[in-house]
Amino acid sequence: MNTPTNNRTAPIGIFDSGVGGLTVLKEILELLPFENIVYFGDVGRTPYGGRSKEIITQFTKQDISFLAEQKVKFIICACNTASSTALEEVQKGSEIEIIGVIEPGAKAAVEKTKNGKIGIIGTVATINSNAYASYIHSLEPQLKVFSLACPLFVPLVEEGYIDKEATYLIARDYLQTMKDVSIDTLVLGCTHYPLLKEVIGDIMGDAVTLLDSGEETAKESFRRITTSGLLHPYSSQVPAPEGELKYFVSDVPEKFSSVASRFMGKEVTNITRVDISKY
Ligand code: DGL
Repeated sequence: MNTPTNNRTAPIGIFDSGVGGLTVLKEILELLPFENIVYFGDVGRTPYGGRSKEIITQFTKQDISFLAEQKVKFIICACNTASSTALEEVQKGSEIEIIGVIEPGAKAAVEKTKNGKIGIIGTVATINSNAYASYIHSLEPQLKVFSLACPLFVPLVEEGYIDKEATYLIARDYLQTMKDVSIDTLVLGCTHYPLLKEVIGDIMGDAVTLLDSGEETAKESFRRITTSGLLHPYSSQVPAPEGELKYFVSDVPEKFSSVASRFMGKEVTNITRVDISKY
């Protein structure tokens, strides 16, 4: 059982199955640059997207207990696969507030759509969980939701295949069904997809709004941390001093640092290896 802290200087914990959560971290750093942050990337066991609910839940519990040991004040599950598949169960046993990426992404889609047709793309596990569609329907039952797994997008992004012809070919093939049903809003329901925003945007056209769940989650985290009175005291200083950022990973740091530097657009250092099987 983890214990909550009301220590405003305690770090915010962010975790993901690997490097993808860095897209969420980037958004958090924009909004909360003065916060101390602990990022955990489960690079030793990534990807989660093709795994069973049982395994994803076990991994998610371990990721959270590692962050709890770091005495974090708030936890962000940046991984769509973990958020959609395991979070409901894991949140029940946690004293520390944990936010996932599904509800903020789904809520933004409900607010954005004009023609009532929303598309969701994500990993196989995220799509099979039906979490986005269920949450959207709990808000607005009449909306039409079209869900599609795009499993090749994650390896393409990790290999740096961002604006290559091969990526366009695969994306065109995947997204044709979304075009056929004339959605006007598409939720990028996976940490890696914001890096393909241009490709996906080119294919879907200007009439379709792309929503980044990570960006919506960062805004919602800012609101919740403020409401719970947990904002770092530096937040009131102008200019506010920058917080400390520590990375932890479940495999050798070298495996993480090169891809992470590409995601962050700058060199990533301060990386420590963790034996996640102990948690
Ligand atoms: N982080 C995962 C997600 O957002 C993508 C990578 C994986 O499959 O683990 O769903």
